[in-house]
Amino acid sequence: MSAGNLEHLEQEVGRLRTENDDLRRQLVQMQKMSAVGSLASSITHEFNNVLTTIINYAKMGLRHKDVGTREKAFDKILSAGHRASKITTGMLSYARTQGERRELSDLVAVVEDVLVLVEKDLQMHRVRLQTDFVGRPFAMVNANQIQQVVLNLIVNARQAMENGGTLYLSVRPNEETSMAEISLRDTGCGIPADKLREIFEPFYTTKQADQQGQGGTGLGLALCREIIEAHKGRIRVESAVGKGTTFTLKLALAHAPATAGAPSVAALPVVKAS
Ligand SMILES: Nc1ncnc2c1ncn2[C@@H]1O[C@H](COP(=O)(O)OP(=O)(O)OP(=O)(O)O)[C@@H](O)[C@H]1O
Ligand SMILES: [Mg+2]
Repeated sequence: MSAGNLEHLEQEVGRLRTENDDLRRQLVQMQKMSAVGSLASSITHEFNNVLTTIINYAKMGLRHKDVGTREKAFDKILSAGHRASKITTGMLSYARTQGERRELSDLVAVVEDVLVLVEKDLQMHRVRLQTDFVGRPFAMVNANQIQQVVLNLIVNARQAMENGGTLYLSVRPNEETSMAEISLRDTGCGIPADKLREIFEPFYTTKQADQQGQGGTGLGLALCREIIEAHKGRIRVESAVGKGTTFTLKLALAHAPATAGAPSVAALPVVKAS
């Protein structure tokens, strides 16, 4: 092969590699939006409830002129406003493309930012949420990608509990292994032992797309595994048919910064002073 041909071939390989990377990034973003899309109705529902609270307390404040009632109305309006702000901030932080950058992140805060988006959906499907956060483990991660993984696992767990159930979610440091562990246990249908490997394969699914055409691509767990492995972490599954399933994520523990304990930026309500 001539030097000219070889050079041309190398250029072509480089171009295909860039194209492949771009398509992969688009796929991850599309899967991310599809997962949160399945929550669109519950999030809108909750936002509507918050607005109803604000409207009703504003009316009460206007009707009753006494200081006590008005103060109570302002309190309720303020906390409803904070709640609304938390939901929109959570949504924006989830939807943004953060690139590949990794930062020292508080894993409890990362998980809590996802919970703001799913709480109503779980409630609407009669799934009780029980959390157990031990300490404030930190890890060097791309928080946005870890949110995508946690959201996928929560949506899967909820879908596995068609008649309701309990979702146990824990975040804890394991000092012996120097790993932070995020564990999600559901009381759903479970996965047969011979399928436990297959579920991580791209396009393996036992689900039909819903009425909005969302879900059932079989890409959720494949991307979860890819993201966790790119972080040099581990994703493990244990399951018993008819009893439930546990997914555990393990990520290398990092030293918490001096300011640890403060809420994440994404968790802070955005209140603009006028
Ligand atoms: N918590 C769980 N309980 C029972 N089965 C599960 C659970 N999580 C995943 N599965 C099984 O693994 C399969 C693959 O999951 P994955 O998230 O990759 O795709 P999906 O949920 O089917 O599709 P999508 O994520 O695009 O909505 C599911 O179809 C389901 O059969
Ligand atoms: Mg899924």
